[in-house]
Amino acid sequence: MNEQPDFHSGINQGVPPVTYGEGSRPPRGDYAKARADYTCEQDYAQYSEADHDTYRRLYARQLQQLPGLACDEFISAVQQLGAPDRIPRFDDISERLMRATGWQIVGVPGLIPEEAFFKLLAERRFPVTDWMRKPEEFDYVVEPDVFHDLFGHVPLLFNPTFADYMQAYGAGGMKASRLDACELLTRLYWYTVEFGLIDTPQGLRAYGAGILSSAGELRHSIESREALRVGFDLQRLMRTRYRIDTYQATYFVIDSFKQLFDATRPDFTPVYEAVRSQPVVEAGAVLAGERVF
Ligand code: PHE
Ligand code: FE
Repeated sequence: MNEQPDFHSGINQGVPPVTYGEGSRPPRGDYAKARADYTCEQDYAQYSEADHDTYRRLYARQLQQLPGLACDEFISAVQQLGAPDRIPRFDDISERLMRATGWQIVGVPGLIPEEAFFKLLAERRFPVTDWMRKPEEFDYVVEPDVFHDLFGHVPLLFNPTFADYMQAYGAGGMKASRLDACELLTRLYWYTVEFGLIDTPQGLRAYGAGILSSAGELRHSIESREALRVGFDLQRLMRTRYRIDTYQATYFVIDSFKQLFDATRPDFTPVYEAVRSQPVVEAGAVLAGERVF
């Protein structure tokens, strides 16, 4: 089994060349075409028939895995991406998204610096990488591509509560930059937007984009007995390191998007202080007395 996760966007660790995990390599996208805010036109002419075919096959593979593993909000919104057999045009999705929640999607050449990313989210603009992975990267690609960004992230932007959370996260990121707290805030993105689970009357379901766009992690995150699933607790989460090169060892479980939004509404300035005064928790470690799923 492929033990590598899908890549994760939004974790933008610096100006290109992007440093990502162990290694550092030049970013793959063409940053020369980007504007000062790092956005670019979706270069639709770049897509070959092979690119559309890769999209179609990825979409089909993920779609058939969703029942019983993905949350209902995701499943009901995924069709908003449009026809599953061609890479969608960002403008078409933006039109629907704007009507639903006031969000837009904008093209980017790939990972972008943290501050530019936060600013776009705060403006209700979600950056979507415009290039498609190569067929030989079907199961694993090290940087976010158009499939991860669209399929993983965009459906929940149609959900009003989640859409508000993403905007608040962007505004919170701009503040975290000033407070030198981006590492802590990034953990929140990682364990919610990328790898979040939600408890429902039917059982645990995934809502994180890194899970939903991954071939293997979707089932792993919900069913594996090796994974630790902990009830959402903001400080506990911000103390917890994460994995970037294998499936997550820890997942955090929310009860509802409303719970997540309410828990993250207060000013984080004292939260960052409190988190810094407590020990870091390794991925996979359980703390005494905590609720696990
Ligand atoms: N309340 C957070 C702060 O003051 C902002 C935020 C909201 C951050 C939602 C993340 C998610 O920094
Ligand atoms: Fe992502």
